Amino acid sequence: MIGRNLKVLLSEATIQNRVRALGLEIAAGYPGDDPLYLVCVLKGSCVFLADLARAIPRPVRIDFVSASSYGSETVSSGEVTLTKDVASDVGGADVLIVEDIVDTGATLAFLRDHLARKQPRSLRVVSLLDKPERRSQEVTIDYAGFTVPDEFVVGYGLDFDEAYRNLRDVCVLES
Ligand code: IMP
Ligand code: MG
Repeated sequence: MIGRNLKVLLSEATIQNRVRALGLEIAAGYPGDDPLYLVCVLKGSCVFLADLARAIPRPVRIDFVSASSYGSETVSSGEVTLTKDVASDVGGADVLIVEDIVDTGATLAFLRDHLARKQPRSLRVVSLLDKPERRSQEVTIDYAGFTVPDEFVVGYGLDFDEAYRNLRDVCVLES
């Protein structure tokens, strides 16, 4: 199945423990029963969203956005466009952007601006992974799972050329 060298960076158990803790932390950050809109950034965050949503013991709604950035396969450029918008009216609602990884920050900065224009009551970000070494845009990550080094990672939703999304661990792809 694997044609390249994969080194486990974060094991399935490590990820699951952290996601459970994030779910409780997030629930504690939103007192009350108004629905919390989890806005999943396709496609990489879909696996994280599925686990995170079930780890948050309060009412949630789920929606999806998609953005593409142009550049080579492993290095994203700063130009981002929206390819799918949320279907829900999130005006006046609590919105939590669910990201897989924040690298340069360009995607998140763009999506944050885009969703802020819909005038939610609150707008926060959870990212499973934070790769701060390559940050070129200042972005706030309200809830972060793990800080990772400047290496290309795959698995648990993250891909290389659409492969490896179904790995249970997060692995470094060694060339
Ligand atoms: P940014 O706009 O540079 O922050 O990059 C965000 C997007 O680039 C992420 O949502 C991923 O889709 C992709 N990306 C960045 N680093 C990695 C990585 O190490 N593995 C897989 N995808 C990545
Ligand atoms: Mg992403």
